[in-house]
Amino acid sequence: MHLEVVADDAALGRVGADRILQARADGALHVLGVATGGTPASTYRELARRSDGRLKDVRLAALDEYVGLPAEHPGSYTSFVRRNIAEPLGIAPEHVAVPRAAAHDLEAAAALFEQQLRDAGGVDLQILGIGANGHIGFNEPGSQADSRTRAVTLAERTRQDNARFFDSPDDVPREALTQGIGTILEARRILLLASGPRKADALARAMEQPPSADCPASWLQRHPDVLVVADQAAAAALS
Ligand code: F6R
Repeated sequence: MHLEVVADDAALGRVGADRILQARADGALHVLGVATGGTPASTYRELARRSDGRLKDVRLAALDEYVGLPAEHPGSYTSFVRRNIAEPLGIAPEHVAVPRAAAHDLEAAAALFEQQLRDAGGVDLQILGIGANGHIGFNEPGSQADSRTRAVTLAERTRQDNARFFDSPDDVPREALTQGIGTILEARRILLLASGPRKADALARAMEQPPSADCPASWLQRHPDVLVVADQAAAAALS
């Protein structure tokens, strides 16, 4: 895993956008895997400002979606991707894949999503954030390296951390449909973004401890092309 430390969240957004636009300029970006949540927001804002139509033909694949929220709910990741990425970049709705967690049959929805990734030719560049407990996607501690897209129960800490996106903490869903670790590791390149002091411990475990299910992000050590871009606060516990 390679590491680039930047000053703050604004710099994180600039470097994140640089990497994505460079991959597109190199002809190496047809399918962009997108994380949601707070960390990549500065990157998506930069892309919206600078991409100038260059990403409009890229396909998007989300990492995860809450179970139990209608897709049009403002807190759903379907809404997030539409509002913050697809619409600002001019990407057509039919080029956006999000796990269909509103489906009755979640196993079938998971299989369909994996098929959509294969049909698109796989993810060229996967953007990831990291949870304070070391999760990536919604692969909570205990997630194995070979896990695939599936329904999972969210850790209580994750629900508390994400309560800021909902009217009340009780509204945060308890389950999600997430790409598995094995699914994520199939992306050709990975860009992990980390910002703020709450991520420092998880990032140090992900990069410096032997890979294990205790810190799912540590499985990324097995991938040959991971760039971690962290601001100084998130990098503070790295040796
Ligand atoms: C989002 C996702 C999560 C977040 C992580 C960090 O699609 O899969 O793994 O990346 O929870 O969230 P923030 O960036 O809000 O701290």
